Amino acid sequence: MIKKGIILAGGMGTRMSPLTKAVNKQLLPLYDKPLIYYPLSILMLAGIRNILIIVNKGQLPQFKKILPLKNNFGINIQYSEQFKPGGLPEAFIIGKKFIGNDSVSMILGDNFFYGQSLSKALMKGTSLKKGAKIFLHPVRNPNLYGVAKISSKNKVIKLVEKPSKPISNFAITGLYFFDNNVVKFSQKLKPSKRKELEIVDLLNVYRRKNLLKAEFIGRGGAWLDTGNIEDFYNATNFISTIESRQGFKIACIEEISYSKKWIGKKEIKDQIKFYGKCEYSRYLEKIIK
Ligand code: G1P
Repeated sequence: MIKKGIILAGGMGTRMSPLTKAVNKQLLPLYDKPLIYYPLSILMLAGIRNILIIVNKGQLPQFKKILPLKNNFGINIQYSEQFKPGGLPEAFIIGKKFIGNDSVSMILGDNFFYGQSLSKALMKGTSLKKGAKIFLHPVRNPNLYGVAKISSKNKVIKLVEKPSKPISNFAITGLYFFDNNVVKFSQKLKPSKRKELEIVDLLNVYRRKNLLKAEFIGRGGAWLDTGNIEDFYNATNFISTIESRQGFKIACIEEISYSKKWIGKKEIKDQIKFYGKCEYSRYLEKIIK
């Protein structure tokens, strides 16, 4: 079982706006909670409680206010800083000590996932013993993402980062599961033309060894990369529509932890105090009633 997860919340946001220079985008509210709650909730839903958050240099104090080391979420949080954007695989070099001899999952700090079938797919992902696993989702603009070409037997044939000529419309989402070799393989990667280590190069190492599995999020699921301002607001609308219609919250990390019995009523009450009078607090009150 994979029990460790990395959230890469640094080295990104270049497509967003100058805002991200002052504030880390992952701390901006996406509808009614900080953006980082969404990827964090995905790791928690996968049963992962040991989490390393990699943030941009200088942004640790902001993060620690919202997600402190000693927290009420029933999870063990560690932090590392990324000094400059070095590419996604750099996370495994920065996180080498955290990973130790274990397998690890990684999620990008600006990725939003939602869907009924997701929990099942996540649990399957955490049972990975050898190799790597990626999650694919169809998109209309594959040139913006890493893209995978798949055989009729669901085998990954080819992977390309932001292809100018599309090889398929299956984007590689920002959620990955890796065995422990990921550290070694990442250390051996060479920077690409844009002077970064590329996730697609790392995945290709696994693919060439026949150790890369792909899974689909499925038609009922949603995936949004909130990396640009338009998708950020699309995600806000999506969340607001679902939450106001159905009355439950997406990515309420206290609710997830409480339902997994990682925390009790006391921790929820402490969080209500921390958030103060707001809709989110009222929702938490309902949960413990
Ligand atoms: C990164 C990855 C890309 C992946 C995407 C998912 O791109 O390089 O392979 O499809 O995340 O969000 P970025 O958003 O950093 O440009």
